[in-house]
Amino acid sequence: MLHATNLTLARDGRTILTGITLTAHPEQVTAIIGPNGSGKTTLMAALTGDLPPTIGQITLNGDSIARLSPRHLATRRAVLAQETQVAFPFTVSEILQLGLEAGPGPADPALIPRLLAEVDLSGTAHRPIHALSGGERQRIHFARALAQARRPRSDQGPMWLFLDEPVSSLDIAHQLMVMRRARRFAAEGGGVVAVMHDLNLTAMTADHVILLSEGRLLAAGPPTYVMTDRLLSQAYRCDIRTNRTPTTGPYLLPQMAGAAV
Ligand SMILES: Nc1ncnc2c1ncn2[C@@H]1O[C@H](COP(=O)(O)OP(=O)(O)OP(=O)(O)O)[C@@H](O)[C@H]1O
Ligand SMILES: [Mg+2]
Repeated sequence: MLHATNLTLARDGRTILTGITLTAHPEQVTAIIGPNGSGKTTLMAALTGDLPPTIGQITLNGDSIARLSPRHLATRRAVLAQETQVAFPFTVSEILQLGLEAGPGPADPALIPRLLAEVDLSGTAHRPIHALSGGERQRIHFARALAQARRPRSDQGPMWLFLDEPVSSLDIAHQLMVMRRARRFAAEGGGVVAVMHDLNLTAMTADHVILLSEGRLLAAGPPTYVMTDRLLSQAYRCDIRTNRTPTTGPYLLPQMAGAAV
């Protein structure tokens, strides 16, 4: 279980997160949604242990995250950042190798071609990462996180995948592929926390949704509870109308979401 209590986080004298308390469960996909600048990436950085909060506690599988060394953290959670800059001319397989080395226990190199197939990039292992398209690079970094989080559940408890906008550069088929893979990771016992901007994809794939607004938690719960006209319109400051289907839960169509004047 991932548990954060009363998180407040200030940077450069500005308070970015205020009083956030949340829980994310293994075997579930937890989505963090909210407008640009609402604090999603900052919250992720706090939850992954990369940015200590000014006030508040975070526990991951029962242990305070502040007490875990970077090495231990890497064996409990893998992170796909919103933007990943690769400074060196690494090949695709070298990038995945970094994930294998960071994760827990011995790594089977045969995992690399398997993961490349899973992100629909078989045959790219020897290509420089810089020579791939933006969406292809994003899928490689997702595969790197999967390489690190290769065992969704072990004696140490569940492994966690933190994904900050994992589908932002992807076409619709690959968006579904990545979210399906994240769901499978959860079904296999791991925990998934994903920052999302696509509200329809969120409604389809998340078990639990956390809605941020101006650094505060506006609502948390299942998609049907959080993704209402009132809460979404309030958070995003535009007129959002949702509909429902029995199979996909809430959905919204772009022409129904006109900007407020
Ligand atoms: N390093 C920093 N120093 C100071 N302020 C920062 C820093 N990084 C982000 N902020 C501010 O914190 C707020 C939240 O930023 P954050 O990146 O968490 O937003 P976000 O919800 O992820 O937005 P987006 O959807 O655009 O990715 C913004 O107002 C931003 O300007
Ligand atoms: Mg962000």
